[in-house]
Amino acid sequence: MKTYLFANWKMYLTFDESNILMNQLLATSYDDDALEIAIFPSSLALTEIEKAVRDTPFRLGAQNVAWVPKGAYTGAVSAELFKEAGAEYALVGHSERRYIFGEHDTDVCKKFVACLEAGLTPVLCIGETKQDVADEKRQYRLKKQLFSVLEGLDLDSQPFFVAYEPVWAISGSGDGVACTPADVEDVQRWIKEELTHYTKQTVPVLYGGSVHKDNVLSYVSLPSVDGVLVGSASTTYESCVTLMQKIAKTV
Ligand code: PGA
Repeated sequence: MKTYLFANWKMYLTFDESNILMNQLLATSYDDDALEIAIFPSSLALTEIEKAVRDTPFRLGAQNVAWVPKGAYTGAVSAELFKEAGAEYALVGHSERRYIFGEHDTDVCKKFVACLEAGLTPVLCIGETKQDVADEKRQYRLKKQLFSVLEGLDLDSQPFFVAYEPVWAISGSGDGVACTPADVEDVQRWIKEELTHYTKQTVPVLYGGSVHKDNVLSYVSLPSVDGVLVGSASTTYESCVTLMQKIAKTV
């Protein structure tokens, strides 16, 4: 089984910075049978990055998609357009989309389906807020986020990923306090069990939220963690390469 390092560059980097970082990463060799790296650059940088990674093991993903393929939707970029531009993956339901841009579970579901129809592999991001934890509603929130998207879909032959990202653990938009490995293992074990209600496939489940070079091994060594979704720590060369090297040694 591969380990995944998904680098969500969010809106951290300029166009030039994105290209420079990509070219630096391309100069680093790694065992691509064991480690799969996907870069989620800004939409503007994606086509240029695609040229750089073409014919290399690096994969590409969209940070967000619109749920309609084409039409009068000012400012939107569809899953189809991302697919045409060379993306293979797309994040859907990232907490920054849910809580900053007001996306609801129904929007996340439409985006998830749009990805499947366009031939992109959706990475369904789920995570509870600090308030959910205080209200002892962690499982309730995650169950609802899974059910509202996955229920009723025929998922036995369509690949998809789930990323568990507690909202409070994300750096920048949350408190930036990583979830303890013991908690991640408990929650992700439960998520994997939940996923068996929706598909016969084995769904890779990633952890995200303040993963960095000093704690990455404590996550990727957990049995329930198939990889990590990393934001800020993937946006500088030294930090991203160290993540690659550390993960590669454990697989
Ligand atoms: P972070 O972000 O690694 O900066 O906490 C992770 C994410 O939001 O995907």
